[in-house]
Amino acid sequence: MRTVFWDYDQNVVKMIDQRQLPWATDVAVYEDYAAVAQAITEMVVRGAPAIGAAAAFGLALAARQSRATDRAGLLQDLETAAATLIAARPTAVNLAWAVARLLHVAANNNLTNAADICDALLHAAQTLADEDVALNRRMGFYGAELINDGDTILHHCNTGALATVDWGTALGVIFAAHEQGKKIQVLVDETRPRLQGARLTAWELQQRGIPFDLIADNAAGHFMRTGQVNIVLVGSDRTAANGDVANKIGTYKLAVVAKENGIPFYPVVPTSTIDLNLAHGDLIPIEERDMDEVLTVIGQPIAPAGSTARNPAFDVTPHRYVTGIVTEVGIIYPPFGKHLREAVEQTGKP
Ligand code: MRU
Repeated sequence: MRTVFWDYDQNVVKMIDQRQLPWATDVAVYEDYAAVAQAITEMVVRGAPAIGAAAAFGLALAARQSRATDRAGLLQDLETAAATLIAARPTAVNLAWAVARLLHVAANNNLTNAADICDALLHAAQTLADEDVALNRRMGFYGAELINDGDTILHHCNTGALATVDWGTALGVIFAAHEQGKKIQVLVDETRPRLQGARLTAWELQQRGIPFDLIADNAAGHFMRTGQVNIVLVGSDRTAANGDVANKIGTYKLAVVAKENGIPFYPVVPTSTIDLNLAHGDLIPIEERDMDEVLTVIGQPIAPAGSTARNPAFDVTPHRYVTGIVTEVGIIYPPFGKHLREAVEQTGKP
């Protein structure tokens, strides 16, 4: 089952409710774009490519919900829905990227009536979702050449099928290496505060029979300094034009320790996650989430009542710590400014 998909019998958007994993595999159903935006904010669906696809299907829903009687009115309603969907989470550029792609389709002058725009938007959202799966497979193919038989891979957050429409980014590379018969071991950062590593990555690896050990986030430095990690693979929510990488909070610390210990550090990043409009990572908006995520673990308070907390959901790793960036058009090496731009241009979809 895909992480997010359109149900063509019911004309609704469905998503695996990732808040319930690994305890239950519930599927949430949406027939309202505002509810899709809410689901993105509350992390029913999460992971940069997955929320991009969810927003695309959300806009297809918005077109069907519109009561506008003419083309101009429908386009106006779509602009309103687009703003709501983009605002759902600020860091992953895939949201704005997916919404812009669909608005571009809707604005095609050849689509003269509302029904045609509705059909075209659903088709565009489906294409975007299908392309995500195909390009993840390509990233897996390119990235797997970095993995040697017997390697131990350190991985942060969840970058698998659940973070995308299917297959995954950094975990997709791990799945591809496993598929090629390489004997690998994965050290899975638990990824506080929301435990995407423990709940989601461990679940995905277990389902595929890939050997892993869950580690406390604080243990990663120990494993790297003592020579027990061959490569660090992570995803990204937005990569700036100079190669600075925003990803799940804690990634920066991993990259610095990896460099200190001579361990290669590779983000796995579809070109839809590269934001050429931002010159460097300090311009990337960093989402601050509710302090309760830090003050509790799976709903249980862990600090004295009345404690306060800080909860940035992402951090930025400066490009000097990045060995290379795996994309669907190949592995990009420094100078990132030049090579990332070329990679995006190569897709024909800047
Ligand atoms: O807050 P989340 O769970 O949406 O964060 C997800 C990540 O940080 C992933 O590493 C990122 O989206 C890229 S992997 C597809």
